[in-house]
Amino acid sequence: MAEIIDGKKVSSEIRAEIKDRVVELNKTYGKVPGLAVVLVGDDAASAVYVRMKGKGCEEVGMNSYQHILPGSTSQDELLTLIDKLNNDSNVNGILVQLPLPKQIDEKSVINAIDPIKDVDGFHPVNVGKLVADDECFLPCTPHGCQILINRHVKDLKGKHLVVVGRSSIVGKPVANMMLQKNDQANCIVTVCHTAAKDISVYTKQADILVVAAGRAMTVTGDMVKDGVVVIDVGVNRITDPADSSKTKIVGDVDFDSVAPKAAAITPVPGGVGPMTIAMLLSNTVKAFEMQNR
Ligand code: GUN
Repeated sequence: MAEIIDGKKVSSEIRAEIKDRVVELNKTYGKVPGLAVVLVGDDAASAVYVRMKGKGCEEVGMNSYQHILPGSTSQDELLTLIDKLNNDSNVNGILVQLPLPKQIDEKSVINAIDPIKDVDGFHPVNVGKLVADDECFLPCTPHGCQILINRHVKDLKGKHLVVVGRSSIVGKPVANMMLQKNDQANCIVTVCHTAAKDISVYTKQADILVVAAGRAMTVTGDMVKDGVVVIDVGVNRITDPADSSKTKIVGDVDFDSVAPKAAAITPVPGGVGPMTIAMLLSNTVKAFEMQNR
């Protein structure tokens, strides 16, 4: 049976380090990092994530500025807020929770965030720097995956890492990060997605499998080889098979059939999820340091 990769534990270790760092920054600069989180509309899952991000800030002693806007907010109104946050020296990081309502063009909003405050790592300047192997803000969920992989696989050089899914938030950045020529990466990377006739052709080859498809049961036990390390990025609410009056959260991987074959696997919840917030807080500290140099 696989070792369970405890993202909650790793996340709390990282957040404890960040808390100490914030104390040091406060001693040196007489102020602490601040993160602005913007939510437009009332998507229930997004509201939960935004609250957790605010709570995460407070727990490490950073300032959190929450901007909760109605679903009817226009693109101009949102761009005006971003401009204000770009020019506010108390705000070191800006995160606009995605997805946005349909009257707002996501790309225009991401492009409006000052790249030096782009703690999500979604601005084209940071995406370009990642691909170019330059210092940049790494997107939080992919960076969390990278840290978990490094805790469980010692020599990554030449390992075959297969990514399922090609989103800009997870699939593409995690592939780019794990392709880099450094000790935390240096993998042979394959990305497969919905255009593949049969993704198991690819998943069966994986030494390390990162699944970010956005669909429950995307990877089952017959689709992996023995000894694979599995990182499940999925968050899907499904009807509980044990009690149809209830729902439960599952990943994109069928844990019950994959875990017996895997060397290590992330659970959902408690795997990748907690890492995202830790990496967001880490990026906000980094933003503060860049802006106070
Ligand atoms: N929606 C889902 N994941 C993310 C994320 O990492 N950042 C933002 N801003 N929105 C998201």
